[in-house]
Amino acid sequence: MSHAGSDERTGPSSYRLTFDGTTVTARPGQSVGAALVAAGIVAWRTTRREGRPRGLFCGIGVCFDCLITVDGRPGQRACLVPARDGMRLSAEGGRDGDDSDGGGSDGRDGDGGDGDGRRR
Ligand code: FES
Repeated sequence: MSHAGSDERTGPSSYRLTFDGTTVTARPGQSVGAALVAAGIVAWRTTRREGRPRGLFCGIGVCFDCLITVDGRPGQRACLVPARDGMRLSAEGGRDGDDSDGGGSDGRDGDGGDGDGRRR
């Protein structure tokens, strides 16, 4: 895989990912969400009912606002997935029923939620 700068002892100094075809650079140890925000991409999915933009909110895997498709696997939490060289990221739309700010979780991985623990 391609990466900018590499040291035999420490590995690559950065990774190259793509988000909907746009190249994004990440540092080793950065989450996918952190890399997107650092690249100026602050929303990568929309709510189901009103199409409101969502990205990082809690940043610790609780709210599920940051769901993203990683290498073809939907429903991944961008704040928890470590960035890797060559990852293909894509936006998700309408993954939950919560149009409030944050807290769109039912506590289940990968499916978003409605913010009050009920599925719709
Ligand atoms: S920002 Fe990822 S779960 Fe809240």
